[in-house]
Amino acid sequence: MCDQIKNASLEWQDERTPISIKFDEPYFSIFNGLDETRHVFLSGNNLCQRFNSGFHVAELGFGTGLNLLATWQLWIELGHTTPLKFTSFEAFPMTLKDMSHALKNWPELNHLATELIQQLESGWTIKTSTLDARIIVGDARKKLKTWNYQADAWFLDGFSPAKNPELWEINLLNSVSDHTAADGTFSTYTAAGFVRRRLSNAGFNVQRIKGYKRKRHMSIGHKS
Ligand SMILES: C[S@@+](CC[C@H](N)C(=O)[O-])C[C@H]1O[C@@H](n2cnc3c(N)ncnc32)[C@H](O)[C@@H]1O
Repeated sequence: MCDQIKNASLEWQDERTPISIKFDEPYFSIFNGLDETRHVFLSGNNLCQRFNSGFHVAELGFGTGLNLLATWQLWIELGHTTPLKFTSFEAFPMTLKDMSHALKNWPELNHLATELIQQLESGWTIKTSTLDARIIVGDARKKLKTWNYQADAWFLDGFSPAKNPELWEINLLNSVSDHTAADGTFSTYTAAGFVRRRLSNAGFNVQRIKGYKRKRHMSIGHKS
């Protein structure tokens, strides 16, 4: 009846990069996680051009909160003064101590990270004049079904399809499409053929584009 929440178990590479023991993968690029986020998710969804009042980003896999902070930073830099809406689904939340440690990799995000951690101490929401964020804790496959919103942009950021197939299941990707506004988009670092086919069958126009650094390709899509 009650959902049991298990925190993420981690090990650290060079004391800087969190690796999930369960999924046996790092949470972000060992080259530069922030650059990768900007390439894959911010540019991939063309957010500089598309942000407008009431814009809603949704994400599969909150992890360290890096994607949220990078998106929030861009929103502020572009001069928005209303709250960006951001919803993220996370089944195995990190402890705030681990999250805080991971985010120390980016001093330029320090002030936003401090605000994030402070607010998360009292629950899974963050409300400021420029951010209205909610982390929905539990298995995304179950939680998304009962989410009553549509996102303008989706960040599909599960671990790799090979290690974390749950976050790339057909039913979940169909549900992502159902929860995407008209003209909405998704982006993801993976270009796995079966993921692209599933997203295409779910109703997105899917494109394969240049990936980050050594990754040759990634995927973006537009809901027509
Ligand atoms: C690559 S990490 C996400 C990194 C993150 N976006 C960031 O900014 O740090 C993938 C995340 O998906 C989460 N995850 C894996 N399976 C899940 C599921 N079934 N439902 C929700 N979250 C899941 C993992 O716990 C992990 O935090």
